[in-house]
Amino acid sequence: MIPSEIIEEIKFRCDIVDVISGYVSLKRSGSGYVALCPFHSERTPSFHVVPERGFFYCFGCGAGGDVITFIRKIENLDYVGAVELLAKRAGITLPERAEPEYAKSGVKKTRIIELNREAARFFHARLLESQKALEYLKSRGLSMPTIKHFGLGYAPDSFDALQKHLLGLGYKVEELTAAFLCGLSERTGRPFDYFRDRIMFPIIDVSGDVVAFGGRSIGDAQPKYLNSSDTPAFKKSRSLFALNFARHSCSERLLLCEGYMDVIALHAAGFTNAVATLGTALTDEQARIMKRYTKEVVITYDNDEAGQRAADRAIRLLEAAGLQAKVLTVTGAKDPDEYIKKYGAAAFRRLLEGSRSKFEFKLDAILEKYKIGPDGTSDDESRIKAVSEVVALLAELPSKTECEICARRAAERLGVSAENLERDAEKKRKKAYAAERREQRRQSLRLAEGLGDRINPDKLKFRQQAAAEEAILGVLLLYPELIPDAQKLIKPDEFYTSLNRKIYAAMAEAGASFTLSALGQILSDEEMGRAVSYMAARERLTKNDLEVIASCAKTLRESRIIPGTLAGGDETPPDPGEIAKLILKRRGGK
Ligand code: CTP
Ligand code: MN
Repeated sequence: MIPSEIIEEIKFRCDIVDVISGYVSLKRSGSGYVALCPFHSERTPSFHVVPERGFFYCFGCGAGGDVITFIRKIENLDYVGAVELLAKRAGITLPERAEPEYAKSGVKKTRIIELNREAARFFHARLLESQKALEYLKSRGLSMPTIKHFGLGYAPDSFDALQKHLLGLGYKVEELTAAFLCGLSERTGRPFDYFRDRIMFPIIDVSGDVVAFGGRSIGDAQPKYLNSSDTPAFKKSRSLFALNFARHSCSERLLLCEGYMDVIALHAAGFTNAVATLGTALTDEQARIMKRYTKEVVITYDNDEAGQRAADRAIRLLEAAGLQAKVLTVTGAKDPDEYIKKYGAAAFRRLLEGSRSKFEFKLDAILEKYKIGPDGTSDDESRIKAVSEVVALLAELPSKTECEICARRAAERLGVSAENLERDAEKKRKKAYAAERREQRRQSLRLAEGLGDRINPDKLKFRQQAAAEEAILGVLLLYPELIPDAQKLIKPDEFYTSLNRKIYAAMAEAGASFTLSALGQILSDEEMGRAVSYMAARERLTKNDLEVIASCAKTLRESRIIPGTLAGGDETPPDPGEIAKLILKRRGGK
């Protein structure tokens, strides 16, 4: 658990409006802000931020919480990860993080980074003395300055060269295995060097730390590439090869490649804004990281079917992260590395200037699918199908101007009129919009009725009680100073539904110093959203005080007195309304 003072300090320094506006564009509305919700797709804003109370809530999808919940959801982090990110932003140092599951070894991140630096030095020195490895790199067109720039290395063909070196420096076997530099033999339990007879690519993060390695075999050894697995210092799904260099020259755009060798060839040819994922498909985390550094990403994947399919998927992720995405397809070579070697940097630059927008990329794919040639000849049936797919694409474009430009281009290729395409797209857009509104209404109705409630399943059985509980919690979330008084009116075990009981118990424990962030540590994102919905609902009402709590407490208590359930002779439980009056009288209130 992170101490609550630290959490509060972080929340104090990370203004919820500042943080959220780094991801979505907020518009002022009353005392708060609204935006299109980043957590579900919509065309009318139902995402609200209430800065005074430090929470956000989406009336469309029910996402909600404080600034930590927001970061957790949008960056796909766990609670501690989100706190770390915000702490960094606020310049606050956190106590050392609890190790995640994969790092049960207890080896610290800083230790692994030191170890990796030593290993990188070792690999680099071995490269400089290996004729064979240097020959290989030369045959791949790499110059000495490029080799040095990327800190490339060579892992000798030996099971223990690296470990001997590192153990000699005082590192321990557990540390070598935690860093994925060594494995343990299943038979003997002895460590063996993980990378052997491979060209080593150090993966360096944006702070300049060597966090992992990729190793390409130069013999026939399979697999072609071996990569470090996740360690306390490295998360593959959040890393990009060469971003440490590219970040200095990518404010306008980044080039996203598939392979290490593509990136290195591009940098050597002067395209220093190239990065690559590490042998996996692009993740939404990587897309969001790119969004921090650039506006546009040109996808330059391999020129094969798999590469083009991957490009299609990458476009979606990049756009979802708010980036412009373009696709460059190399022709006459299988990847950018080969292309530059064959045709030179100038040719690649021309290719880059002609990289297709997402619309053109998809338009080409449709034309190809229905075999519609450059002069637009094809049978009517395929043409009609192609037109309908193109109209769907046009309908998704964000602005009328963009739609007009793209419609003109598509019309030429399809041999139909641009006006008709535009009109059809407009119709389709309207229909989609209406359908979305219907879905939104259906969803909020479902939410209101608690139908099929996954988040608080007991709500189905205890509808009336749940409503009373929600009112109590809503008021207390808005005014935590009322918690001690509320404790006198109703106890957690008098709550009917499990989620609400859990929330109320957390309040009881924290007392008047309760804050929303106390819930962040015990509730899932969805549960947090639900809790915030109670607060959002009460925010809109004017009466939020102890009387509301008393009357709801009464509802709860009365609904428990079911004939035959109370043991005979029991005292009648006190009436919460009466207690509230007493409390208020004692205070001199009304
Ligand atoms: N990759 C991997 N494991 C493999 C093959 C590939 O992790 N067995 C990853 C590597 O990150 C590699 C990328 O996928 O850089 C692209 O693969 P490929 O196009 O085969 O590699 P290149 O980088 O082009 O390498 P080379 O030109 O040396 O074959
Ligand atoms: Mn290649």
